[in-house]
Amino acid sequence: MKILVVMGSPRKGNTYRAVQRIEELMRGRLSPGEELSFSYLMLADAGLAECRGCFNCFTWGEERCPIKDEAAAIEARMHEADGVVFASPVYGMNVTGLFKTFVDRFAYIFHRPRFFGKTALLVTTTGMLGHKDVLKYMDLVATVWGFTVAHRAGLTTLAEPLPPSQAEANERKLAAAADAFFEALRRPERPSPSFQDIMLFHGQRGTFAEMGKTFPADYRYWKERGWLEKGTKYFVEGVRVNPVYHMAGTVMEWSVRRNARKVAEEMGE
Ligand SMILES: Cc1cc2nc3c(=O)[nH]c(=O)nc-3n(C[C@H](O)[C@H](O)[C@H](O)COP(=O)(O)O)c2cc1C
Repeated sequence: MKILVVMGSPRKGNTYRAVQRIEELMRGRLSPGEELSFSYLMLADAGLAECRGCFNCFTWGEERCPIKDEAAAIEARMHEADGVVFASPVYGMNVTGLFKTFVDRFAYIFHRPRFFGKTALLVTTTGMLGHKDVLKYMDLVATVWGFTVAHRAGLTTLAEPLPPSQAEANERKLAAAADAFFEALRRPERPSPSFQDIMLFHGQRGTFAEMGKTFPADYRYWKERGWLEKGTKYFVEGVRVNPVYHMAGTVMEWSVRRNARKVAEEMGE
């Protein structure tokens, strides 16, 4: 199992130690002959520049990004991994700026998802507050990018040293995270998509199908994968789609398409 850790803390502090503990616990679960590798991508050292907001990636494709740095290599590292740990402490009630820059630089993946079949683990540490919002945000990012989220761990690090009850609570959370991630990596079955997953699929499909001139890169990407074909129910074949969700998504797509056509006409598409 090959794991990439995307570390959003600027230092090797609480969040880094939490992920290292998860790594240690997972190593303890290995059977003879099984292999596990952890590679840590410290965003602080990766030198990802901030997005300039040119929209080139959305409109024309990520290869047209004017910033020439490590972004493409980082995406390649995520593709090479079986599982990705997204880790960020809570800074100012949100993910760190480093982590947000990482998300912004890969924002085209929200339109052109690509990590189906890969497993994600979400880890945050906080002084006291904000961990639920951070985990919710990371969950949205990972899910829309195509990952299956195995587990979300939010640890509290209020005082140094931690009171024993808090240290024990954190240790339990780390053990649960290690177990869930390990099991999900061993059995990477894709669960049935949620209502939100299905609505997103149909909403995006309606938009990109009708607005191919405004979103040429998205249109091409969706078409190449067969996602625009009638009868396609979801990004991934072979997963069970709840028929009620499918029905709701189809109705929503019909309405999205009608609006998108109107906008496209106004724009001369
Ligand atoms: C700039 C900064 C902002 C922070 N903002 C919050 C916050 O909004 N809420 C909170 O409960 N803790 C906050 N903290 C505390 C951190 O979330 C906590 O100490 C975390 O474990 C640090 O992780 P790290 O050592 O991996 O960087 C903040 C810490 C820093 C340095």
